Amino acid sequence: MSQSSPANCPSHAAAAPWVYSDLVKDHFLSPRNFLMGDESAYRYDAVGTVGNPICGDQMRMFLQIQDGRITDVKWKTYGCASAIASTSALSELVKGQTLDDALKVGPEQIATYLGGLPKHKFHCSVLGHEALAAAIADYRSRTH
Ligand code: FES
Repeated sequence: MSQSSPANCPSHAAAAPWVYSDLVKDHFLSPRNFLMGDESAYRYDAVGTVGNPICGDQMRMFLQIQDGRITDVKWKTYGCASAIASTSALSELVKGQTLDDALKVGPEQIATYLGGLPKHKFHCSVLGHEALAAAIADYRSRTH
C-alpha cells in the first residue's frame, strides 16, 4: 500500500506554503470594524450582501456615507480567516474615501496591505470587495 504525505504528493509540492503573515493573523484575531450583535442597532446608509461561489461563504457590509465619502464601515461574515482578515483590512483602507476611490481598492491591494495571502486563499479577499461594491450599488440605487 502506498502512502501519501505533503512531502511526496505532487499537488502538495506545487502548492504555496500554508503560512499567514503577522498582519493577516492580527486582523483575523482582532478584526477592525466587525459588527458585533444585532445589525438593526447600527444605523447605515447602504448595505451589500454577497456569497462566494467557490466556498459558499457569505459577507454583509454596512456603510455610513456623508457627502460622497464613507464615514464608517461595519461588516459581518460566515467567511474563513482569510476573508475576515481581508475584510478587516479593506474596512480600514476605505474609511474616509470617496465611493469611487473605495471601489478601486481591490483584492490585490488588500493582499499587498496584509503582506500577502496564500495563493489558494486569494479568492477569500474578493468577498469583502464584492460586498463593498454591492453596498455602494445599493446606496447609488437609493440616491439616484
Ligand atoms: Fe470561503 Fe475563504 S474559504 S471566504
